[in-house]
Amino acid sequence: MSRVVVHKAQKFSIKLDSIAPDKSISHRSVMFAMLADGTSKITNFLRAEDTLNSLEIVKNLGAEVRDDGTTISISSDGIKESFEVLDCGNSGTGMRLFCGLLSSANGHFVLSGDEYLRRRPMKRVTSPLRDIGAVLDGRQEGDLAPLSIRGSSLKAFNYESKIASAQVKSCMILAALRADGFCTYTEPELSRDHTERMLKGMGADVVVDGLKTTISPMKELLSPLVIRVPADPSSSFFFGVAAAITPDADVLLQGVTLNPTRIEAFKALEKMGADISYEITDNKYEPIGNIHVKYSPLHGIVVEDNISWLIDELPALSIAFACASGESIVKNAEELRVKESDRISTVVEGLRAANIEVDEYKDGYRVVGGELKSAIVDSDGDHRIAMSFIIAGLRCGMEVTDLDCINTSFPNFFELLEQITSIKRYDED
Ligand code: S3P
Repeated sequence: MSRVVVHKAQKFSIKLDSIAPDKSISHRSVMFAMLADGTSKITNFLRAEDTLNSLEIVKNLGAEVRDDGTTISISSDGIKESFEVLDCGNSGTGMRLFCGLLSSANGHFVLSGDEYLRRRPMKRVTSPLRDIGAVLDGRQEGDLAPLSIRGSSLKAFNYESKIASAQVKSCMILAALRADGFCTYTEPELSRDHTERMLKGMGADVVVDGLKTTISPMKELLSPLVIRVPADPSSSFFFGVAAAITPDADVLLQGVTLNPTRIEAFKALEKMGADISYEITDNKYEPIGNIHVKYSPLHGIVVEDNISWLIDELPALSIAFACASGESIVKNAEELRVKESDRISTVVEGLRAANIEVDEYKDGYRVVGGELKSAIVDSDGDHRIAMSFIIAGLRCGMEVTDLDCINTSFPNFFELLEQITSIKRYDED
C-alpha cells in the first residue's frame, strides 16, 4: 500500500495553471460526443483513471476515437453492442450516466466497476429508468453493480426526484432525449448543471426553469461538442484550503470553471474569513476564470444549504474547520455516506486521529477548531479523503496511507504539492 509523509509548510505564494481538468465535464464530453452528428473535439480532457475509463467505454461502444495527445476527437455512428464488460472503475458518475445513455440503445450492455463502486447504490437510477420502460437489472434487485441493460423504448416522464443529484438528473436527461415525448425532471435543490449547459450548447432542446428541467426528445443528432475542459474546482479547492490554513500564503488557481453550482465551497471558505476573489476570463458553456485565495484567520460556520454544490469539497473544507476558531457544523449531508467512502465516518475518524474534537451525526458532523497534530490517516480508498488529510499535513506534518485512489481524479496532485512543501512517498505492495 502506498503512503506519503507530508511536512509542515511555510508561507508560499504560487500560481497554479495545471490543476486537473474537471472530472464531471470530462466524463460528459466523451459520452455526449456519442449523440453528435460529426466529430467532437475535446481538449484538456482529464487523463485520470475515472475519465479514461469513460473514454475506453465510449470506444467499446463503437465510437471512433483519435487522440493526438492534446485533442481527443470522437465520432460515432450510433451506439454498438460491446464485446467487453464496460468498466467504470471507481466512478459513480460514469456508471449512473451510462445507465441513462444505454437504456435506449440497441443491444445488451454490462456495466461494472471496482470493489468500492460495486457497493454504491444504483437504485436511484435503475428505479426511475425501470419506471419508464428500461430493462435493467443488477444485484439486490437492481441496486448494485454489475448492472445489465437491455436497451428498449422509453416512455415520456415527469419525474420528481427526492435527492439533489446531478448524476441522477443527468441520467434521466440522457434517457429523456430518446423517450417518446416531452419529459420533465424536477429536483429538490439545484444540483450541478453541466449536462444541461453542454447539451443545450450542442443544440438539444433542454429548458431549465428553476428546479424543473424540460427535455424534448432528439429529432436529429446534435451538433458536435467543441470544448476545452476547464480546471476542476473540486481539485483546485485542496490548494485553496492549503493557502487558507497557512499563515501569509496565497494561491492563484487559474482556468477553473466558475459555474455557481461548483464554487460554493470557496464561498463557504470566504464566510469563514478567507480572502478570496474571482475573475471571469472566458464563457463557453459556462463561466471560466481564476480564483485567488489568501490566508486570513478563519472562524467556524454552519453549512446546511445548497449541500450538493459543495458535497465533494466537504472533506477538504473540514480541514479548514479544524484550523478555525470556534465550532463548525455540517447538516443535511447524508449523501456523504454513499460517496467513494462513507465520508462522514472517514472525515470524523481522520480528524479525531489528528487531535480534533468532532461529533458525528447521521447527516453531518460538528468540528471544534483546535490544534491539528501529526497522525497516520488511512484514506479508505477515497481520493478526496487522501488529499484532504495530506493538505492537513501542511499545518503539522501527516502520514497518509492508501494513495493510489488519487489517480482517479488528480494525477498531478503531488507535483503541485511539492511547490508548497517537501514530501516523502513510499510505494509498497
Ligand atoms: C457528479 C455529481 C455529484 C458529485 C460527483 C460528480 C457529477 O454526485 O458528488 O463527484 O459529475 O454529476 P451526485 O450528483 O450523486 O450528488
